[in-house]
Amino acid sequence: MTSGLEGVVAAETVLSHVDGENGRLIIRGRELDDIAGKISFEEVCALLWEGLAEPDLPERDLREVLGTARVAVWPLAQKVFALCRETPALSLIEGLRLGLSALSDQDKLPHHLLVTAMVPVMTAGLIRIRQGLEPVAPDEALSHAADFLAMMTARPPKRLQAHALDTYLSAVCDHGLNASTFTARVIASTQAGMISSVIGGLCALKGPLHGGAPGPVLDMLDEIGDEKGIRPWLERQLDQGERLMGFGHRIYKVRDPRADVLKGAVRLLSGDDSNRIALAEKVEQVALEVLAERKPGRRLETNVEFYTALLLEALAIPREAFTPVFAIGRTAGWVAHVLEQEKVGRIIRPSSVYIGPEPLAA
Ligand code: ACO
Repeated sequence: MTSGLEGVVAAETVLSHVDGENGRLIIRGRELDDIAGKISFEEVCALLWEGLAEPDLPERDLREVLGTARVAVWPLAQKVFALCRETPALSLIEGLRLGLSALSDQDKLPHHLLVTAMVPVMTAGLIRIRQGLEPVAPDEALSHAADFLAMMTARPPKRLQAHALDTYLSAVCDHGLNASTFTARVIASTQAGMISSVIGGLCALKGPLHGGAPGPVLDMLDEIGDEKGIRPWLERQLDQGERLMGFGHRIYKVRDPRADVLKGAVRLLSGDDSNRIALAEKVEQVALEVLAERKPGRRLETNVEFYTALLLEALAIPREAFTPVFAIGRTAGWVAHVLEQEKVGRIIRPSSVYIGPEPLAA
């Protein structure tokens, strides 16, 4: 038995395949390179949900329906915003968790649309509240990515910015049976419903070993400061038994294909902040050298979080919001897996090996 269940097959899926040895990610029969930045996030949702969600909608209609759903959840989101204002100790992801928890199983709108709409509406509003600003209502005419940026900044985003975020959302839409997706499927298998399953997925994503790495990647770049500081800083971290954030992956033993997609998108956006990208590329190069020296045979490569950090920073998204923004994209996959699991109709219930003491004989 392995404590991390590596190699254990717990589901059959038509949704995505992570080929860790060859650095490929297949989303419902399409290579990641063919979809991220090439088709819209709504089209990716349509691809993932096809034949699973009711109603089964093409991309064009889905854009409209998701816009309507964002507007539909807005009144409820405003109530949660009021509670979050009174509870400043709540982190952004805790506020998002609260927003999803406010949704009801009795709601008439299809639940997969409700959760997909609630995540960007809550995240954008919570970012503004943190900045002492009023949340901005959704605009149903915009795409999911553009509307998130518009709700966050109170102005329409530039085309390039909306395209960069759209690329990111598609790049992280689904990724095999990662911890959050597995969590969502386990909950779905009990017939607890879409909303509870997606909340469970979000709770798993909250952990720093899963969705919480990109903020620390930027902290690392800040602390390193300049090229001279790279190697000493990285070595000191490893000497102290710390992990280098943005590196290593349970499945990928070569470079995570999402890292290159995001690197391309961030380059397009970088503009006058290209020094940041240059420093990041150098840090990546030295980190891979140091990891190979210090952890020989572990095959630790760059993961998705490294360039996620730079992309989200270039879009002026605050670090605390990185995991909630990841959730905007990943909700597409959670929803699809929940729908797929519900069709299986059998509870997921593995076994454990008892290693505790035997009861004392009478
Ligand atoms: N830095 C330094 N050492 C590392 C790193 C890292 N980033 N990742 C793994 N290792 C080392 C471990 O210390 C361990 O070494 P040891 O056997 O000498 O003790 C060995 O590699 C194997 O580590 P595991 O923890 O068994 O690897 P696992 O597959 O469980 O972990 C994980 C994968 C959690 C992503 C890990 O690589 C990590 O913590 N990375 C940093 C955090 C990060 O970037 N997370 C985002 C992942 S992407 C995503 O979830 C969307």
